[in-house]
Amino acid sequence: MIKIQNQSEYEIAYRKSVENPEAFWAEVADSFVWYQKWDKVVEWNFLSPEIKWFCGGKTNITENCIDRHLKVRGNKIALIWEPNDPKERYIRLTYRELAERVNQFANVLKNNGVKKGDRVSIYMPMIPELAISVLACARIGAIHSVVFAGFSSASLADRINDSECSVVLTSDGLNRGEKQIPVKRVVDEALESCPSVQKVIVVDRLGWAIHMEEGRDVYLHDELKNAEKYCAPEPMDSEDPLFILYTSGSTGKPKGVVHTCGGYMVYAEYSFRNVFQYEESDIHWCTADIGWVTGHTYIVYGPLLAGATSVMFEGVPTFPDPGRFWQVCDKWGVTHFYTAPTAIRSLMQAGEDHVLAYSLDSLKVLGSVGEPINEEAWHWYHTHVGKGRCPLVDTWWQTETGGIMISTLAGVTPMKPAHATFPLPGIQPVLLDSDGNELAGNNVEGYLCIKYPWPSIIRTTWGDHERCRINYFATYKGYYFTGDGAKRDENGMYRIIGRVDDVINVSGHRFGTAEIESAINQNSNVVESAVVGFPHDIKGQGIFAYVICKEAPENAEYTRAEIVETVVAQIGRIAKPDVILFVSGLPKTRSGKIMRRILRKIAEGEYENTGDTSTLLDPLVVEEIIGQAKQVRNT
Ligand code: WT7
Repeated sequence: MIKIQNQSEYEIAYRKSVENPEAFWAEVADSFVWYQKWDKVVEWNFLSPEIKWFCGGKTNITENCIDRHLKVRGNKIALIWEPNDPKERYIRLTYRELAERVNQFANVLKNNGVKKGDRVSIYMPMIPELAISVLACARIGAIHSVVFAGFSSASLADRINDSECSVVLTSDGLNRGEKQIPVKRVVDEALESCPSVQKVIVVDRLGWAIHMEEGRDVYLHDELKNAEKYCAPEPMDSEDPLFILYTSGSTGKPKGVVHTCGGYMVYAEYSFRNVFQYEESDIHWCTADIGWVTGHTYIVYGPLLAGATSVMFEGVPTFPDPGRFWQVCDKWGVTHFYTAPTAIRSLMQAGEDHVLAYSLDSLKVLGSVGEPINEEAWHWYHTHVGKGRCPLVDTWWQTETGGIMISTLAGVTPMKPAHATFPLPGIQPVLLDSDGNELAGNNVEGYLCIKYPWPSIIRTTWGDHERCRINYFATYKGYYFTGDGAKRDENGMYRIIGRVDDVINVSGHRFGTAEIESAINQNSNVVESAVVGFPHDIKGQGIFAYVICKEAPENAEYTRAEIVETVVAQIGRIAKPDVILFVSGLPKTRSGKIMRRILRKIAEGEYENTGDTSTLLDPLVVEEIIGQAKQVRNT
């Protein structure tokens, strides 16, 4: 275990991690329980790519998240569950209780035919069973694939089919603010086209009378009656897959990012402990959903590996009012609060009074993740939430990196508004120019790549290794390419600018423009569409869709609503376009490529300097689109 506690320790650790990465990571990995120790720390090749960490080692991540803590922390709270409705009773599980629940759930999985290596899809709201089921899969070596419960049945079906899941874990419905939303019904719809699924295990969250398919669907509470209390952890090879998590790229359907047992475990704990400067009595609250990687690493695995107390929240930041986050912080004495800039911006808009109504005395560290945090939001968060006394860590990372890569270490290394700052020891970022040359020195801007592997780097994309190679390892030979652009300031601090590929980051969630376009094109009125991101006050980026219809819509509002519905059905509510502009053509080059640069300018409201249009097949189309845009936006 390594905990870096001051600037000079950071520098020493960083230097060691570059000069002798194997010794550095061996020291970090040494504090875990290994059934068999590794023979080699790392073997790698970024061309194929083939990356292995802690080769030959055997372990089980749940042994490290749970069992090893029982002697010293058996009665310590592992998980605090805060319900959507503050009037409903919370749930607290000690490490011992969590152990029981995970073991029993693991036996339920076994009794339902799940074996090591099988894929299990988890489509559940933020209830304790979600965290427990993730750990139950890991305990028996089943590969979990958590799908955020806001995705549509079509998206769920795609993800289930891509990894051929045999079992789905779900609930009857979910609570979201004032609303109750069906969940099992979405699963039923998805399963009409998922031949691999044999069993569905349902948590009764709302007490609804739902359809239960004979021979396929069972209730968790019934299954638990026949489940033994103990389930031995399955010894897993370091490089056995631990989970798949689907994420969007610039092309095609979402891809299944694969993380493996040993390396992910080591990096989740190491990054958690060091970035947040974790101490034994801390109460850590990450507000993400476990459906995203942030929830995997910093609600479930990181905190539990460290033996911490992790808060899990079912609700939304604005229910019953925009003071909810702060009320929960005071209620549980939260010391570490980790959220997304979009949440900060929306609470900022609701006014200071909501945050000033709470003491927030317990807070020690604030965190930000998912998208660039603008300076205004940074200062509001630091001043009003942190009362100017809590370090604020702006943590840059990705689904593919498994854990935080570039961030201030709270109170240890310097911070700067809107800057992720410095890499963690063990992480070697570089900025490249478009020819792939490394940019030396400071005050430079380029494509953010990583030149040496770290333990939780993506290993493959499920079922399609070539796609992994092309997406991340082919653009710049010998480097992992992040898809982000970044600057290094005069002091060597990194500032992440944003995606340089066709990926839009909406409220910290990734969508490929191609993915949204293909959803829009499912609408029978639509001939063609082009989607770009544009700056949005709350969401960071909004979705702007240019749509060509078969016939000019008679009632534009009606057609817009129909297109939105199509996107909701194909992807989910989170991918709703903010602006739909009907156009008769798109700016294309003679080879038929859409010039998104121009569409992005227009979406930003920039109508004058659309740049060089001489290579366009029909330059006049730009004038027409600008005319339409002005009409819609009344500018
Ligand atoms: C993309 C990854 C990592 C967990 C949540 C998102 C953007 C992430 C930051 C940050 C600026 C950030 C990047 C990255 N991003 N954190 N602190 N500052 N941008 O995971 O869905 O895999 O998205 O989110 O563009 O590539 P993800």
